[in-house]
Amino acid sequence: MPITEYQQEITKHHNQPAQNPIDSIYETCAVPPYKPQKGSREATQALLAASVQAPTTLHAEPWVFMVIQDAALLRELSDDVRESAEPQMREYLHSLFREPDFNILYNAETLIVIYGKSMGASTEADYWLTAENLILAASAMGYGTCVIGLAVQKLNTPEWKFRLGATFYPVI
Ligand SMILES: Cc1cc2nc3c(=O)[nH]c(=O)nc-3n(C[C@H](O)[C@H](O)[C@H](O)COP(=O)(O)O)c2cc1C
Repeated sequence: MPITEYQQEITKHHNQPAQNPIDSIYETCAVPPYKPQKGSREATQALLAASVQAPTTLHAEPWVFMVIQDAALLRELSDDVRESAEPQMREYLHSLFREPDFNILYNAETLIVIYGKSMGASTEADYWLTAENLILAASAMGYGTCVIGLAVQKLNTPEWKFRLGATFYPVI
């Protein structure tokens, strides 16, 4: 998507122009609480379009994105991760795990999983560069984000890959 179209998307959905990228960097620290509503399809597309502007090794573009906005499914994923969390993780996050309603996704309406078509030392960098673009673009559009490393292991189980129809490896 050309940059002008991206800027128009942001203006259309948020009634304000895209933020200065430096402001976005400072504001990515503002994670939960999230906006209570889901991002629209157009806003999500604008986010993904910004994400894939990231450079990749040998132009490999090895990522696949999955956008999940099914609240019941996200709750189930959170519960499943909680139930099977390793003892060290429970201990590390004990104050959160003590809360009966603790949701590992902080009740976010949208989870974007970045899957990798291939894995390797430099492709790992490709995934994180696109993730950072996603985080900064979300911040510029007024959305809070949080990397949820806690969910990756569960998303990589045959059960969750089957449920989500995922054929690649979840990275982030
Ligand atoms: C690889 C990675 C995995 C993360 N996984 C989680 C997670 O599962 N849950 C969570 O609440 N935050 C997670 N975070 C977010 C960080 O814990 C932290 O909240 C974030 O970096 C912002 O805080 P800071 O500005 O103090 O660094 C993760 C961050 C990274 C880079």
